[in-house]
Amino acid sequence: LNSFMFEYKGIYFYTGSTTPEIIDSLEHMEIRDSDVFLVTYPKSGTIWTQQVLNLIMHERHRNGLEHIDNMTRAPWIEYNLHNDAFNSRQSPRLFTSHLPYYLMPKDLRFKRAKIIYVYRNPKDVLVSFYHFHKLYQKLEVTLEWETFLGLFLSGRVLHGSWFDHIKGWYTHKEDYNILFMTYEELKKDLRSAVIKICNFLDIKLNDDAVDTVVDKSSFKNMKQDPLANYKFISEKFLDFEKGEFLRKGTIGDWKNRMTVAQNEKFDKVYMEKMKDLPIKFFWDI
Ligand code: PPS
Repeated sequence: LNSFMFEYKGIYFYTGSTTPEIIDSLEHMEIRDSDVFLVTYPKSGTIWTQQVLNLIMHERHRNGLEHIDNMTRAPWIEYNLHNDAFNSRQSPRLFTSHLPYYLMPKDLRFKRAKIIYVYRNPKDVLVSFYHFHKLYQKLEVTLEWETFLGLFLSGRVLHGSWFDHIKGWYTHKEDYNILFMTYEELKKDLRSAVIKICNFLDIKLNDDAVDTVVDKSSFKNMKQDPLANYKFISEKFLDFEKGEFLRKGTIGDWKNRMTVAQNEKFDKVYMEKMKDLPIKFFWDI
């Protein structure tokens, strides 16, 4: 294990960006029925869906009248180092989290608030995650690809095992008011995905407004949008010479990276870990 992450309750967190006390405090976070939570495993389409949600929920953001970055609008609850007063936020509040279901605020159960869970082909998640480590300056070690693959498969990476994350959320879905969506679905038909989210949130947008959401959430536009591209994150943590959050934004980039043997190794673990999960993934595994 490296010093950039610490383990707490089965999950690895960024050292210096959160503490066990912060994680524990979330259990009793007060939830409002109007709250919306975006939950993802890292690299699954988090900042993309944040942009979509902020544009849907905030007319002034949609119309370019407000200049608030997406992280300020939709903070990660587990990285609340500055003790942002979540309780004094105006409704409807929007939060982001990479947490497993068992570390989330207890009040979310019994179907209070709404959760949008976005997941992505884990092979693309793996590749995206690998590249992301290059720009994260705190990661003192340059990981070899093969090493990282092994760590990912065994869950010894930031935010733990992809397999456990999705299994946990999926098998407890009856406890929550939750919408499952995929990165691939956003990619293939963003407009339909936006409408699906609007329906889930009970928000009615006219066609022009939907068009604006779709347009401002495109890869190209987000890359240039200082409120959405995450360049606003301090250079203390990230080195944007080495990469970007909006890297490629494609489906199937794993094919450019994984060897046949690595793919077989991945599939073996995947089959084993996912065999009991009654969820139908549309990617080929
Ligand atoms: S993080 O660090 O967990 O918040 O990262 P996350 O946002 O979940 O994942 C980053 C990947 O999402 C891609 N992305 C997009 N793809 C298509 N369209 C849009 N608009 C978009 N926005 C972000 C981003 O490029 C990362 O994937 P890769 O494969 O590395 O390009």
